[in-house]
Amino acid sequence: MKILLTGGAGFIGSHLAKRLLADGAEVLVADDLSTGRLENVPEGARFLKVNLARPESLRQLPEERFDAVTHLAGQSSGEKSFDDPDADLAANGQSTSRLCRWAIEHRIRTFLYASSMSVYGQVAEYPVPETAAPCPCSYYGASKLYGESACRIASASGLRTVCFRMFNVYGPGQNLANLKQGMVSIYLAYLLQDKPVLVKGSVERVRDFIYVSDVVAAWQRALVHPVQGVFNLGSGVPTSVATLLRMLLQAAGKDSDYPVEIGPDTPGDQRAICAEISAIRKALEWEPKVSLDQGLREMVHWGKSRAAEANRKNG
Ligand SMILES: NC(=O)c1ccc[n+]([C@@H]2O[C@H](COP(=O)([O-])OP(=O)(O)OC[C@H]3O[C@@H](n4cnc5c(N)ncnc54)[C@H](O)[C@@H]3O)[C@@H](O)[C@H]2O)c1
Repeated sequence: MKILLTGGAGFIGSHLAKRLLADGAEVLVADDLSTGRLENVPEGARFLKVNLARPESLRQLPEERFDAVTHLAGQSSGEKSFDDPDADLAANGQSTSRLCRWAIEHRIRTFLYASSMSVYGQVAEYPVPETAAPCPCSYYGASKLYGESACRIASASGLRTVCFRMFNVYGPGQNLANLKQGMVSIYLAYLLQDKPVLVKGSVERVRDFIYVSDVVAAWQRALVHPVQGVFNLGSGVPTSVATLLRMLLQAAGKDSDYPVEIGPDTPGDQRAICAEISAIRKALEWEPKVSLDQGLREMVHWGKSRAAEANRKNG
């Protein structure tokens, strides 16, 4: 199988690239390295530097026959989307409509898209099923909803599209320098520097944390199972921010009274949300395998060894 994997220099994309290569696929990573890093692109994958937010980017894509496009490239922070909503629409939405049309022209059969729980906006109750009316409250969510619509429209032309509404994905490889995306990675970054954890918003907010290997397993299955449509991709387990902090402190070996500062919330942040996952369970015969406790321990272990390596390098 030959796959065009966009965003493969980023957190989730690089994990997916590794998995696909291990399964024997040929992978071309397309990424503009805006938040991703070249060293994340696994050995064995080809790499093309391209900004998919630009219409002319398609001319840079090779005239080769791909079996599938897995489109993960995008601006991934809800908070940042308020800085420049048009840029978000270009990177997350328009890149998707353009790539879908390119896929149809190139007779590619399958298109998988990284959508987000942000398309739901504030929900009255959770777990939220895919049938709930989307009502994004960030430009990020709006741009992802545009991308989903583009996929649905393209599917009428025979492209098999799958949109994954991913919830809070975490795991090794997350960017610890980016304090605007990724709740677990942000809090861990403070802990690794022995600084007070800054929580933007209430600790009573509720999230659905899913470990990156479970996410990758779902993407991998969607390449081979003939399903299409929109699927929530979360653990199905609601966890409050307070509980996450308690578990993370424990995993990091910190005292339970470690300093935590509560700051104002960020624009467009969702209050409480968790995925209803019966649809994806059934369609992909998929099950989340990594508990939050286990996943946090893996992530802390990774973060600590990374910090130790950086210290060694800096003398
Ligand atoms: N991490 C999460 O919890 C989560 C949840 C829901 C959806 N998503 C979506 O999944 C995808 C991957 O997220 P991630 O956490 O790995 O983020 P990430 O920032 O680590 O990865 C995104 C990658 O896309 C690249 N990119 C950004 N704009 C681009 C452009 N215009 N052209 C080409 N490449 C571009 C970046 O350089 C980066 O390598 C994103 O689309 C994100 O919105 C992530």
